[in-house]
Amino acid sequence: MNRILEENKAWIDDAWQKITSKLRDNSILLKDTIPFVTTDGIYDDKSKAPGAWTNGFWPGIMWLMYDATGEESFRIAAENAENILDKALENFKILHHDVGFMWHISSGANYKLTGSEKSKNRNLHAASVLASRYNVDAGFIKAWNDEGADGWAIIDCMMNIPLLYWAAKETNNVAFRQIADRHAKKTMEHHIRPDGSAYHVVEYDISSGEVLGYPWTQGYDKDNSAWARGQGWAIYGFALAYLHTGNVQYLDTAKKCANYFIANVCATGYVPRHDFRQPDEPDIIDTSAGAIAACGLIEIAKAVPELEKKMYMNAAVNVMKALTENHCNWTKEEQSILQNSSACYNSNVHRSLIYGEYFYVEAMYKLKGFDKLFWM
Ligand code: GLY
Repeated sequence: MNRILEENKAWIDDAWQKITSKLRDNSILLKDTIPFVTTDGIYDDKSKAPGAWTNGFWPGIMWLMYDATGEESFRIAAENAENILDKALENFKILHHDVGFMWHISSGANYKLTGSEKSKNRNLHAASVLASRYNVDAGFIKAWNDEGADGWAIIDCMMNIPLLYWAAKETNNVAFRQIADRHAKKTMEHHIRPDGSAYHVVEYDISSGEVLGYPWTQGYDKDNSAWARGQGWAIYGFALAYLHTGNVQYLDTAKKCANYFIANVCATGYVPRHDFRQPDEPDIIDTSAGAIAACGLIEIAKAVPELEKKMYMNAAVNVMKALTENHCNWTKEEQSILQNSSACYNSNVHRSLIYGEYFYVEAMYKLKGFDKLFWM
């Protein structure tokens, strides 16, 4: 693994220096906002919609950079965003299962890096909200609040349950861990197909927990999608569940999902298409899916025995190299770095989305050798 990093050191160092320079400028320019997407190179501001699921990624980026550099402008921007997020924490009815994305890498990161008790408290409140969405009879965490979606669980939630594992350790309340484990096991059983691809949504009977169907919301095809970003959530989410619990079934599931991802991206220059089963045209790609998966592949590479490491680390490096060489913008005219993320198959295609940016920076932070894992 070290040899792979050594061989790739030159481009990783060069990219890291450019990432630091661009984000340093952004930490000052955007310090009172919460960016989501750029239009003509300029970020919007989601601070007026504090409940948006994407609002933790900007402070998360700022905390990664604060840890890497110790520069105050990053801390200030992260803390400003965290204060804005309080408006969401105070308004229970707008909250959903993505509280993990929102608080674990903002308040959770703050607590990890500075020891802030206030931030720890915020993260524990978020964990309680997530735990409250657990359906005890059916054994899953409900995703969204929409009418008719009481039985819906989505693969993305594997990235939210690390918040519960963390809360169990912080509070010695085993209920948080039990909920996370029950949800993870049900996800392992019903979201992952035999070939390692993942369903985005599984609908359960809310009393018996029996599978009722696979409603379509993301990816190309109603019945048979292999949504690349969902694959990323599965790879990284199961890798994190393994790191939290030591349960090798989770690691095996992360590997199975990773193997499907690697087999597919090999054919497209290591940049995933939006859905691995979409038609050739239009050629919609999703760089955010690549960055998310790369973060998971690096954790898998660290966790597996020596002779298995190379495959996962090589894949992660190949993805990040392809993103860096072909999909990054280092100019001042464009505020974001990572280009060509696609929120959906039919909308917000080939844009700069803050979650793509976050996972690009997290993966590069890991490749540079920094080792804080905010999801723990
Ligand atoms: N968690 C929503 C998405 O990835 O689109």
